[in-house]
Amino acid sequence: MEISITRTTTPKQKPTDQSKLGFGNYYTDHMFLMNYDEGQGWHDPRIVPYAPIPLDPASMCLHYAQEVFEGLKAYRTKDGGILMFRPDQNMARLNRSNERLCIPLIDEKFAIEAMKQLVLVDEDWIPTADGTSLYIRPFIFAVDPHVGVHPAKHLIFCIILSPVGAYYPEGLNPVKIYVEQKYVRAVRGGMGFTKTGGNYAASLKAQAEADKEGYAQVLWLDGVERKYVEEVGAMNIFFVIDGEVVTPSLEGSILGGITRMSCIDILRSWGLKVSERKLAVDELIAASDAGKLDEAFGSGTAAVISPVGELKYGDKIMPINGGKIGPISQRLYDTLTGIQWGKIEDTFGWTYKIK
Ligand code: PLP
Ligand code: COI
Repeated sequence: MEISITRTTTPKQKPTDQSKLGFGNYYTDHMFLMNYDEGQGWHDPRIVPYAPIPLDPASMCLHYAQEVFEGLKAYRTKDGGILMFRPDQNMARLNRSNERLCIPLIDEKFAIEAMKQLVLVDEDWIPTADGTSLYIRPFIFAVDPHVGVHPAKHLIFCIILSPVGAYYPEGLNPVKIYVEQKYVRAVRGGMGFTKTGGNYAASLKAQAEADKEGYAQVLWLDGVERKYVEEVGAMNIFFVIDGEVVTPSLEGSILGGITRMSCIDILRSWGLKVSERKLAVDELIAASDAGKLDEAFGSGTAAVISPVGELKYGDKIMPINGGKIGPISQRLYDTLTGIQWGKIEDTFGWTYKIK
């Protein structure tokens, strides 16, 4: 399929201070759209000026949340090139989400081409300051005007772009998180492994309560026994316990992060022991009491590597590495961002050069 391109005649003012981009505050001049209609399949791919999308008030996405999304980034290299990080993995995950939510699958290679062309049209929007990038947000939503519950026959695939800096105001300074005991995010058999809006809607209440207590995010426990740690609001979680790097195994309720799988490969390439396994919160407490909870960090596209300086469970406060970033977290951050921004050699073959 050929992607048609209509360029804006009224480009927007770009943010002038790249140190104040934050996350998700600005959008570029163009977006990608493609429609699905039963009988026709996906059709009419186009890049058009960024604008509101008219929706029938009965559109099914607004009522039953049949919606999926992805998040990845384009990085400007020192020599003016542009890299994406493992877009094939994001598109494969998008299709896993599609499958779970009864959304017609997309052609993964074509979707990568669509992202590439859109980024190239808006390449002047890729920020260049340290730690900044262009966040790519592909998403698909159901637009049948129908208030009965059934899988949609009409959908829109859209991609928008946002120049971003750090996700947390803390940057690389450790964040504080607490273990959520009242609410759960997902259960096995549910949608936890997908990237769908409903998972995030389910997390808002806990997030709001964490905010009030001065915590950046919550650490979810499994929804059945409330015993095993799962992940954090917008990132996967790793702990270094007595020299072993441990991250919760993927049991269906956790999002399988692209950053998570990349971290595991990098850590193993250094000869470290990395275990994907069930990790009980009691084990964390015991490790903390024994002085063996060496480091903790989150991993995600938006969050990159985000060290955790304090973990709280009920009244128990567990400081980690004196509230400072630990050596493994720092080395991992340097290596991962070095590969993503093309500053160090990518021996894993993860970067995807689009310019
Ligand atoms: N877990 C959740 C709930 C997320 O929203 C994200 C971010 O996408 C992640 C984990 C990390 O996934 P990735 O590394 O693919 O960005
Ligand atoms: C990401 O890291 O891409 C995310 O989606 C996290 C958050 C913005 C939902």
